[in-house]
Amino acid sequence: MYKKSFFIVFEGIEGSGKSSHSLSLIKKLKSLKIPCVYLREPGGSKNAEHIRSFLLKRENKGFNSLTDTLLYLAARNENFLRKIKPFHKKKIIICDRFTDSTLAYQHYGLGVKKRFINYINKEIIGTIKPDYTFLMFLNVNKLKSRISNKKTINRYDKFKKSFYKRVQNGFLKICNKNKSKYMVINSSNKYEINQDIIFNRVKKLLK
Ligand code: TMP
Repeated sequence: MYKKSFFIVFEGIEGSGKSSHSLSLIKKLKSLKIPCVYLREPGGSKNAEHIRSFLLKRENKGFNSLTDTLLYLAARNENFLRKIKPFHKKKIIICDRFTDSTLAYQHYGLGVKKRFINYINKEIIGTIKPDYTFLMFLNVNKLKSRISNKKTINRYDKFKKSFYKRVQNGFLKICNKNKSKYMVINSSNKYEINQDIIFNRVKKLLK
């Protein structure tokens, strides 16, 4: 018998495989008849998806980094209220990106104050936290080829390698602070190997 509720997050830089692995996990859980909800950030709820399409449009670049941060947080508030809070403790929630992305991209990547991000995140999510996070680690030298395979290119896909290095190191710092709740997955492993590692860990977590 598996747990009925759990909150799992996938994090990582672009091209690290988090979206395909999170989707593959949801498929496997559904095949076991485990009720689950799939979300992504920015996005998830209808209003948050509106904010996402505005935020990620290439022609909307050039915002001040604080404006950017507020937009990501606004999208999170909508998604959290509509999709995460109502299902928390009721279903398995799998979210492609969550609060760590804001710290990694906006604080470690762009220098927005950590205190500011933490304060608003806390106002939004209160005491609800992810139970477990998979951090997909990608060799930044492989980023270009991974991104050029993507169907849609958003504005962050155009940042320099050094930006992604800072973001990824930020993710690693966050995860090293609370190792029991994170697993780092090396994206240079074969896809199927990582799929098995993730699924096996989730099965253990849900037991
Ligand atoms: P993705 O759907 O390819 O992951 O794209 C989402 C983009 O949004 C990605 O470049 C990371 C960025 N992002 C932030 O900068 N801060 C955030 O808090 C979140 C959730 C995403």
